Amino acid sequence: MNQKELNLILDDVKSFPSMPAAALKLLALLKDDDASSAQIEQVLRYEPGLTANILKLTNSAYFGLPTQVGSIRQAILLLGWKKLIQIVLTSCISAIIDKPVQGYDLPAGDLWRHSIAVSVATETLIKLLKLSVPDDVFTAALLHDVGKMVLGRYVETEIIHMDEEAMRGLSFEQVERSMFGIDHAEIGAKILRRWSFPTTMINIVRWHHEPDNAPKPDVAIDVVHTADVLCLMAGIGMGREGLQYQPSEMASKRLGLTQKHIEIVASQMLQWANELAASVQSTT
Ligand SMILES: [Fe+2]
Ligand SMILES: [Fe+2]
Repeated sequence: MNQKELNLILDDVKSFPSMPAAALKLLALLKDDDASSAQIEQVLRYEPGLTANILKLTNSAYFGLPTQVGSIRQAILLLGWKKLIQIVLTSCISAIIDKPVQGYDLPAGDLWRHSIAVSVATETLIKLLKLSVPDDVFTAALLHDVGKMVLGRYVETEIIHMDEEAMRGLSFEQVERSMFGIDHAEIGAKILRRWSFPTTMINIVRWHHEPDNAPKPDVAIDVVHTADVLCLMAGIGMGREGLQYQPSEMASKRLGLTQKHIEIVASQMLQWANELAASVQSTT
């Protein structure tokens, strides 16, 4: 590990794009049980571009709404305000991560598709397993690999050595740590901390590869980790990270996950992820 390089990486975290102020306000509303549709409309009033994207997403095949939605108010009525906030955050995040990621073998759009798939799989698992988790878990799932956006160009320059290490049986994030002194999960957590995101979300991103090492067991981390593993199995946008990915048996046990659950999620995930990713891409 080279301290100079680690300092450069940490500098890149500091200059990483910020989240739009509207997204942060809406994230705070998610925690507020008394939030009203009027408050959401107020936040979006001065964001015409964002509103257009939200309506496109709302009208995507994924939500299967019986009628074409033309306003934020109508979208809230049909989907509920929590769902609508998730859609807004999805739109904001797509602008940040819908780019090629060097080093990880992820062409433009692949990290985005993978992130959407993990978020959709997370949502499905939560319903199937009847888990009680905070609403921001879907947004954390969308951002779980955001650290790759920073680490990618460093991985690119060391890739031959890193592939050799991975061949010896180390997981890719272990190789990242031995090479740079930090991995993409920890970098992602630092990005979310800079954005002033809640600790629950930061922890999901930080421990998504190693839920058993989290400060305490947390089903929100377990479910995003499991969704990530299922996306690997379905071959959705894992690129290089897919080599030597270690699923946690403990997380499956804590969740009560069975083969039946896995089959249900795997059979539908690809279609849902493609529908959502396509409707977001067409807006950019
Ligand atoms: Fe990851
Ligand atoms: Fe991932």
